Amino acid sequence: MTEKAVLTFGDQQIELPIVEGSDGNRAIDISQLLAKTGMTSYDPALGNTAFCKSAITYIDGDKGILRYRGIPIEQFTQHPNFIEVAWLLIFGELPNEEEHIDFRARLTANELLHEDIKDQFQFIPADSPPMAILSATLNNLACIHKEFLEVNSPEGLVGAAARLISKARTIAAFAYRRSMGLPFIYPDPSLRYCANFLHMMFSLPYKQYVVTDEIQDALNLLFILHADHEQNCSTSTVRVVGSSHANLFASCAAGVSALWGPLHGGANVDVVEMLERIYKGGISPEQCIRDAKDKTNPFRLSGFGHRVYRNFDPRAKILKAACDRVLASMNRHDPLLDIARKLEELALNDPYFVERKLYPNVDFYSGIILRAIGIPTNMFTVCFAIGRLPGWIAQWKEQHDDPSSRIVRPRQIYTGEGERNYVPMDQR
Ligand code: ACO
Repeated sequence: MTEKAVLTFGDQQIELPIVEGSDGNRAIDISQLLAKTGMTSYDPALGNTAFCKSAITYIDGDKGILRYRGIPIEQFTQHPNFIEVAWLLIFGELPNEEEHIDFRARLTANELLHEDIKDQFQFIPADSPPMAILSATLNNLACIHKEFLEVNSPEGLVGAAARLISKARTIAAFAYRRSMGLPFIYPDPSLRYCANFLHMMFSLPYKQYVVTDEIQDALNLLFILHADHEQNCSTSTVRVVGSSHANLFASCAAGVSALWGPLHGGANVDVVEMLERIYKGGISPEQCIRDAKDKTNPFRLSGFGHRVYRNFDPRAKILKAACDRVLASMNRHDPLLDIARKLEELALNDPYFVERKLYPNVDFYSGIILRAIGIPTNMFTVCFAIGRLPGWIAQWKEQHDDPSSRIVRPRQIYTGEGERNYVPMDQR
């Protein structure tokens, strides 16, 4: 017998089907609730609501498990290859050799920005936030690549995805160069994805930036660990925008905007600013912990806590180990890493954090690696966005390919005034 949930209210009773995921997790299907009862459900911030079915990313927040298309993220750490993972997320399987070579060739072929887009950078104030530039410029790609405003074939999707993933790093690097008053460095087709990004960021007209294997691996790893995280704030934003059949560029640009917030991707900036403040003596680690616990103080321990993980964020574990490797490979010591470790130790031994199951999240250690690579703090969230793009594209594609998907249109509980009359200006 198929299991059902029974909802009783007043003298009415309705049966609600149970939906089961391939992981055995179950949900009560309330899609007919309004039609059958005249009532909506109330779930602020959607904390209890599965708003789509998805086969891309699996998270077990209690056990600290994260898998892309079934593969545990730990298995991508040995020979990190962001492009391979991007393909896996978007198309469901690891690329075979031919697909891998073809996708890399497409990324190389699309690494330049149209000169009209490049020229726009001159009209943006030099100190503009790079996330604003990234969001605006991703959207503006639609002005140039109009053939991708509608994507209705796998070939079209590969073309649009290659443009977005390839050009995002060029846009990011150009935004940085503009902010520094440095000349733009064009991409070098002989370089791999991450090395090319760093070349555009750090090469000078008279001096080529040379990237080590360790740094390339670290950046690949960082992008991979940010590549998807199922229905988080920015990804659901991409889906909400995409549900209106808005194009992929506009949908991903909206994702960038959502990611910008300090409760989401922007937290990696806050973490390093917090660690720097402690380093400069502005506050002690102990005081930081006290402030985070103080309910009259809006301060939160940045890089700690997660809506889904009630255990260690597996990405934080991998990044913590990667910090040591990267710094060792550069023969460098970063005092901020010591402070981060100290804060972690204090928090993990404090009943406030233990009882609430607050652990370091992906943002806690990512900034240390980015700093070691030489990426300035205001570019951290941009790097997160470059990493997250394949996930947004994969989720947009999954929704687009699903014939049952509808425009997202939540309901509300109205709490405003009852009907009242308009008052003319001279009587107010
Ligand atoms: N510092 C101090 N207290 C915290 C923190 C924190 N970082 N995170 C959560 N809490 C407390 C809350 O105050 C709340 O306490 P209460 O039960 O006494 O009211 C309890 O823990 C539960 O927290 P919620 O706010 O309900 O958790 P929610 O799931 O809504 O928020 C979030 C998750 C936004 C990540 C939150 O933990 C936070 O603000 N963390 C700091 C910012 C951050 O690191 N964001 C990056 C997240 S990862 C990412 O987006 C890529």
